Amino acid sequence: MKKRIFTGLMLACMSILPTLAQWGRPVDYSAGPGLKDAYKNYFTIGVAVNKTNISDPAQTAIIKKQFNSVTAENAWKPGEIHPKEGVWNFGLADSIANFCRENGIKMRGHCLCWHSQFADWMFTDKKGKPVKKEVFYERLREHIHTVVNRYKDVVYAWDVVNEAMADDGRPFEFVDGKMVPASPYRQSRHFKLCGDEFIAKAFEFAREADPTGVLIYNDYSCVDNGKRERIYNMVKKMKDAGVPIDGIGMQGHYNIYFPDEEQLEKAINRFKEIVNIIHITELDLRTNTESGGQLRFARGEAKPQAPYIGTLQEDQYARLFKVFRKHADVIKNVTFWNLSDKDSWLGVNNHPLPFDENFKAKRSLQIIRDFDPVADKRVPKDDWVPNPMNQPGQEYPQVNSEGFARFRVVAPEAKSVIVSLGLGGRGGTVLRKDKDGVWTGTTEGPMDPGFHYYHLTIDGGVFNDPGTHNYFGSCRWESGIEIPAPDQDFYAWRKDIPHGNIQQVNFWSESTGKMQTANVYLPSGYGKLVKGKNGKLEQTRYPVLYLQHGWGENETSWPVQGKAGIIMDNLIADGKIKPFIVVMAYGLTNDFKFGTIGKFTAEEFEKLLIDELMPVIDKQFLTKPDKWNRALAGLSMGGMETKLITLRRPEVFGYWGLLSGGQYAPDEIKDPKVVKYIFEGCGDKENPDGINKSVADLKAAGYNAEGLISEGTAHEFLTWRRCLYQMAQSLFK
Ligand code: XIL
Repeated sequence: MKKRIFTGLMLACMSILPTLAQWGRPVDYSAGPGLKDAYKNYFTIGVAVNKTNISDPAQTAIIKKQFNSVTAENAWKPGEIHPKEGVWNFGLADSIANFCRENGIKMRGHCLCWHSQFADWMFTDKKGKPVKKEVFYERLREHIHTVVNRYKDVVYAWDVVNEAMADDGRPFEFVDGKMVPASPYRQSRHFKLCGDEFIAKAFEFAREADPTGVLIYNDYSCVDNGKRERIYNMVKKMKDAGVPIDGIGMQGHYNIYFPDEEQLEKAINRFKEIVNIIHITELDLRTNTESGGQLRFARGEAKPQAPYIGTLQEDQYARLFKVFRKHADVIKNVTFWNLSDKDSWLGVNNHPLPFDENFKAKRSLQIIRDFDPVADKRVPKDDWVPNPMNQPGQEYPQVNSEGFARFRVVAPEAKSVIVSLGLGGRGGTVLRKDKDGVWTGTTEGPMDPGFHYYHLTIDGGVFNDPGTHNYFGSCRWESGIEIPAPDQDFYAWRKDIPHGNIQQVNFWSESTGKMQTANVYLPSGYGKLVKGKNGKLEQTRYPVLYLQHGWGENETSWPVQGKAGIIMDNLIADGKIKPFIVVMAYGLTNDFKFGTIGKFTAEEFEKLLIDELMPVIDKQFLTKPDKWNRALAGLSMGGMETKLITLRRPEVFGYWGLLSGGQYAPDEIKDPKVVKYIFEGCGDKENPDGINKSVADLKAAGYNAEGLISEGTAHEFLTWRRCLYQMAQSLFK
């Protein structure tokens, strides 16, 4: 028997505490289709690779599953592949090409002409003297022809010229000792020798060698206002002059704060005016505020990434990909710069990629992959009202009729604000600073109806939202929000009916050595003198339901967010139940530590409940103090307590209820006569099959059992409000 309870408990834990189970078990975020398959109707998904990436079987497996475009990170750069006149390093360059050929993966050829990692020998003669531009062009042409001819069978696009434009923030520059307005062009050796003609020449040579490949001008910081315009002007000028530029490569070395959607779209829309092909060629998201492609950056201290930083990164990836999908008419490829954080040119501590330093997929990968095309287009209905739980006069948070929630937080100096509430699988809703410096944001989709706890994470610190009231959950007072539910009337205040009241009872508990508290619902009319059967005036005595909260909660949870008193008033007023008392005590659930749930016996609470609280209740209130007028029910961990205590002490309680709190099996009870009624319920997003099976088994074994599967809800209070409403109607009959 003991062993069975123990395993039953373990099973119950897995189903009733899903987050707990998640914490213990590593999640495989790469399970599911590859990115390339998820995006097959949008654009190809690429990755920049190094030598190890294409040799190590575990890494090649990731490449083959996720990507259908490959860029050689360094091996094809002029300085690497062609370091001296007549000297070619084809070794690694060929290996990468062959890996792609063998696996049917197409490549982006990166890059034919760049100021960095360039074949600088092209600028000087054998004596080290500068050559004329005609000599340089001859050499560049030979270089481009050789590389393109060697690989064009496997290449679909070439980064012909890389990073030829100047960065923002340099309105003036010194040329020959004089301060002059800054040139739009980077002052590279190429530019100094040839002016912008070298750009045109490089594209012409590439077109000669590959008449069909897509020829790209590639650069970083395309989302900066000045650089965007410089790139636009240059490409436009070139195209007007007949230079064969097919598309623009936006490198995409961004960070978790920048760019926002608007800034990114500005660049895409601007480039759309002159090209119909855009590639996002080098995507990675630093976890600091740096961005761009210049070879200056903080590699960061060796430190693990704080969870809120991960959430910011996931959110930024989600936002950027949403914009990319929106512009899939021009965006034909998105390439990650490096396979994993371990490979990243930014250093492992920038954590910039969807695969971590051990090549394990991060939640970012799942979030990028499992997008919802319907949600992409969805605009929340504009019928916002303040959350009913707001503090007086507070406009935010707000909810709309579809179940979206939106938030507004004033924190002028903050770097990031995250609301813990959001769709499943996301770390919450990340707010963005609006034009007035106020943080705002809307949940990505509709929330489940009913009550939700939440909090704010501001720069990594946890705070409550000053807009709304606080509710005890997660072992602390949390902010709360109420999403309108289709059946919300059953827990709504009604002015036209009598109301009971809730009293606080404080009592000394010897076993815990502390004062303890219970809240006691007394129905309207409690204590009144009424005529009894023999005509004498007497006070009515009532049955009692002991109703337990879950982990992290306390004796306030049922009366406040559970709305137990309102539900009781409404049931009594509608004649659905005969009045009874509800006792909502603290269930000692919060000293329990994660990882020790297998050892949880509820023995302490059993002592407190039966030996200490019940005598107080039976003494202070007009109860019917016997088993057939006493019920025990609880939600989640309170359900575990209920199950353990009712099975150990069947002589005390005649009605038993588990609300998202596991199930009874007939052979655990053994005798249908010990219990008059068993209730089991949960949300349809929890474990409905378990409940349905258990109820059927109990019924088949002769028990009076009833189940409730709450529609559209999970492990949350609307499930339990509905359970109480249903269960109460069958108690004490
Ligand atoms: C980087 C490589 O990832 C590094 O390994 C190398 O040391 C420097 O270059 N813009 C580009 C890429 O176009 O070629 C750069 O790659 C990153 C910035």
